[in-house]
Amino acid sequence: MSIRLLAFAASTRKASVNRRLIERLAHHARQEGAEVSLLDLNDFPMPLYDGDSEEANGRPASADRLQEMLASHQGLLLATPEYNGFFSPLLKNTFDWLSRPAADGQSGMDALRGMPVGIVSASPGAMGGMRALPFVRLYLNNLGMLVAPQQIAVSRAASAFHEDGSLDDEGQDHALAAVARQVIDLASLRAS
Ligand SMILES: Cc1cc2nc3c(=O)[nH]c(=O)nc-3n(C[C@H](O)[C@H](O)[C@H](O)COP(=O)(O)O)c2cc1C
Repeated sequence: MSIRLLAFAASTRKASVNRRLIERLAHHARQEGAEVSLLDLNDFPMPLYDGDSEEANGRPASADRLQEMLASHQGLLLATPEYNGFFSPLLKNTFDWLSRPAADGQSGMDALRGMPVGIVSASPGAMGGMRALPFVRLYLNNLGMLVAPQQIAVSRAASAFHEDGSLDDEGQDHALAAVARQVIDLASLRAS
C-alpha cells in the first residue's frame, strides 16, 4: 500500500511562492509512489491562539478537521515563508492549535508525535527562507515530529519556477525530490 502524505504551504496568499514549492514537492512525492493530499490553509481558518477563547469555545473546528486529516496520513510536507528570519505566524498558530486537546478531549500532541515531516521554504530574496528553516525544525521537534534531515530554501522564487512547475535550478529540483524521498522512507519505517 502506498504511503499517504499531507502537504500544505504555511501561506494563504493567492500568489504564494511557497504554494508553488509545495505543489512541486507534492509532485516529487507522487513520482516516488506516495499518495499526496494537498491542502490550502484558507480552508482551515483558525483565530490567533488565545487561552480565554480556548476556555470559552474550545479548539476551533478547523483544527479538529486538520488533525483528522493528519491521522489518516503517515507524513507531512510543509513549505513556509520566512518573515524576518523566522517562519510564518500562520505555521505557528496552526500547530499551536493542533497541539491543544480536541473538542472530544483527544490529545493534540499524540497526533503529532512521531509524524515524519519534510520542510522547505521559498522567498523572492537571496536566502530563500534559509534562516527560517532551523527554527521550523526546532519547533516541530518540540512537538515530537520527526523532521527529515534534507531541506531546501528556494531563493529568487519569483523566477525560480518553469511553467510546468519544475525548478529552473536542476540541482535544487533533485534536492527537493530527496526531501520527498526521505519523508516517504521515514513514514515507511514507522509503518513497518
Ligand atoms: C513581515 C515580512 C517579513 C519578511 N521577511 C523576510 C525575510 O526575512 N527573508 C526573506 O527572504 N523574505 C522576507 N519577506 C518576504 C517574503 O519572503 C515574501 O513576502 C514571500 O513571498 C512570502 O511567501 P509567500 O509568497 O509564500 O506568501 C518578508 C515579508 C514580510 C511581509
